[in-house]
Amino acid sequence: EASGHRPPKGLNFKPVQPNTQDAVVVPEGYEQGIVIRWGDPLFPGVPQFDFDNQTAAKQAEQFGFNCDFAAMLPLDHLGLTNLMVTNHEYTSEPFMFKGYSSANPTREQVEIAWAAHGLSVFMVKRTPHSGQLKPAFSKYNRRITLHTEFEVRGPAAGSALLKTSVDPTGTKVFGTMNNCSGGVTPWGTILSGEENFNQYFANAGPLNDPRLARYGITGTATGRKWERFDKRFDLAQEPNEANRFGWVIELDPNDPDSTPVKHTHLGRFKHETANVRIARDGRVVAYSGDDERFEYIYKFISNGKVRKGDSRSARRHNMTLLDDGTLYVAKFTGDSPPAEIDGTGKLPSDGQFDGSGEWIPLASGKKSFVPGMTAEEVYVFTRIAADKVGATKMDRPEDIECHPHTGRVYCALSNNVERGNAGKEGATEPNPRLQNRHGQVLELAERRDDALSLTFRWDLFLVCGDPKSPDTYFGGYDKSQVSPISSPDNVAFDPHGNLWISTDSAGALNGLNDGLYGVPLEGRERGHLKLFLTVPKGAETCGPIIGERVITVCVQHPGEVDGASADNPASHWPDGGSSQPRPSVVAVWKRGHRQLDEIG
Ligand code: FEO
Ligand code: CA
Ligand code: CA
Ligand code: CA
Repeated sequence: EASGHRPPKGLNFKPVQPNTQDAVVVPEGYEQGIVIRWGDPLFPGVPQFDFDNQTAAKQAEQFGFNCDFAAMLPLDHLGLTNLMVTNHEYTSEPFMFKGYSSANPTREQVEIAWAAHGLSVFMVKRTPHSGQLKPAFSKYNRRITLHTEFEVRGPAAGSALLKTSVDPTGTKVFGTMNNCSGGVTPWGTILSGEENFNQYFANAGPLNDPRLARYGITGTATGRKWERFDKRFDLAQEPNEANRFGWVIELDPNDPDSTPVKHTHLGRFKHETANVRIARDGRVVAYSGDDERFEYIYKFISNGKVRKGDSRSARRHNMTLLDDGTLYVAKFTGDSPPAEIDGTGKLPSDGQFDGSGEWIPLASGKKSFVPGMTAEEVYVFTRIAADKVGATKMDRPEDIECHPHTGRVYCALSNNVERGNAGKEGATEPNPRLQNRHGQVLELAERRDDALSLTFRWDLFLVCGDPKSPDTYFGGYDKSQVSPISSPDNVAFDPHGNLWISTDSAGALNGLNDGLYGVPLEGRERGHLKLFLTVPKGAETCGPIIGERVITVCVQHPGEVDGASADNPASHWPDGGSSQPRPSVVAVWKRGHRQLDEIG
């Protein structure tokens, strides 16, 4: 480095230049390989992927579409054998089928889409002396689709609001959808957020129910037309079906026969994710954001305590922790005079967008803290409850995770182009820019670093965008030395405690491709953000896992740019030639398989 001092451990790479290549671009001295692609078989005897001859039966046993979150759970001490779990957020039919008619999809196309949603669980094996990861058949391999049975748990289980003609008990739901990000619990299970579930339900308009409208469930026919093939997607026939999505799910990947769970105590909204931290006394805390403009950040505190060990009985106990406790929503207060928060992103006179905050209780078990709402209503219509208690409207809360060493909480606030528009809220200290295209990264410290605390301090660690622009901030670091970044989405930590951020900007930064960035949080390098990799055109970078020797990312919706489709592909990644683009997981490692940190 020009300054002569060694970069922080884990960040010893030369940043890649922002670009528009149809490739995954990694730093000098690093290698890459595909881990798994849309359509790759997960079970013996399943046919290889054939874009022109896809069927629902094949898709149900192949890797799904649009991988977002990914988790890797080692099954041995060397990390040679691992379980990987990925979300398949949604389907992009015009990129899955040539000649696709959105006005008249076929039953087979719709059933392929149902099977391409959900999650995949599969073994991955690392090649010794390399970072290459390859999928393998195993007893753990599993697909979760829109047909998989889920158990509804927590205080809204069995509510009249969740009952349908197929499930008069209100406790059993088929499927999960729009699973965006997620988390690995300390007890080895997977949490996953059901995010933009509103788009799957037809005919809300005529019902004229403000509770549906508050979730963006409006209009008549849906874009996908699933309501023609299964009446549960038609709210005129099954008005409660939409209430059965928008939850955090929990899956035990160690037990392929287990029934996954929907946890109603964490509330119902467009959950980006959920991540758990264990408090000093053994109770657990889960953080989750509602990813939409002007929505909220939530926290749940359990009553029960975590049981140690990785036995099946410990996991069964720990999987009940999120069903009994209290749900809170965040209120942020800035410490600078409101007149100094002028909407331009100019720092206030104290030099920081920062302040204090509190967690406002919404409901605990059968008890509601929200006037005019029952506890069941708080869980099923959580957005309305949060509106009533005066929570702070944020700029699209995406991923939220706790730092493994400091316990501080980091949340990506992706962007909010509507802030300050007519009829919309203007700038606030945690959301300080009008028509915010590039987003910010929030840092939150619970009082006394106690996960159970109901008050906190916060600051904006990054105010994203082009570092040459005066409305950006990089933890106080010299902005001439940092990489440009827009629309932070996922956050992760490396073994050294650095923060890693993946982006979903849709070209907001001069049409440049999205990427994965690393940045130190401590010391004099705090804020020195560097671009580690970029993904192909039209793709979003998600699901980063930052290990000692291997980094993986999910490359979601490659080639999805305006005007492109399967009939006119804009990307041929990853298979090259004239192939169709395929959402895939990529591994990156240091040449010679040194630790990522070693000088190559
Ligand atoms: Fe699916 Fe909030 O990104
Ligand atoms: Ca301030
Ligand atoms: Ca996301
Ligand atoms: Ca996103």
